[in-house]
Amino acid sequence: MKIAIANDHAGVDYKNQIVKMLTELGHEVFNFGTDEKISCDYPDYAEKVARAVIDGKAECGILVCGTGIGMSIAANKFKGIRASLCADEFSAEMTRLHNDSNVLCLGARTLGIEVALRIVKKYISTTEFLGGNHARRISKFNDVK
Ligand code: RB5
Repeated sequence: MKIAIANDHAGVDYKNQIVKMLTELGHEVFNFGTDEKISCDYPDYAEKVARAVIDGKAECGILVCGTGIGMSIAANKFKGIRASLCADEFSAEMTRLHNDSNVLCLGARTLGIEVALRIVKKYISTTEFLGGNHARRISKFNDVK
């Protein structure tokens, strides 16, 4: 799977561990930074991943900041992005099945790394969107101005 990933200064170490795991699993990972722990602005990195997903360069995206909240708010501003802040594997699975989520957001300061890695694994291995009622619900917010 082609996966875009980015983070702010709070997410560098988690991003590196996620990239390592994904690469070992055979995925193609596009790392949009930052690779430095110098303070930066998470919306700049959310935009890079959002655009990669919208443009079809990546099938899904992963964003890491301190809480995951800023990244999810920023990514969801882009039309066509359904970014999900997840703190457990069940939510990671359900947001793919029910919300057709295409960006996973994680908090490096709120999750242990082992939990974060398990959430990523669950998210990328759940590729099916159930459609039906769920598609109707998504269509109700897709074009909100
Ligand atoms: C950076 O200090 C922090 O605000 C950011 O990583 C994130 O948690 C924002 O939502």
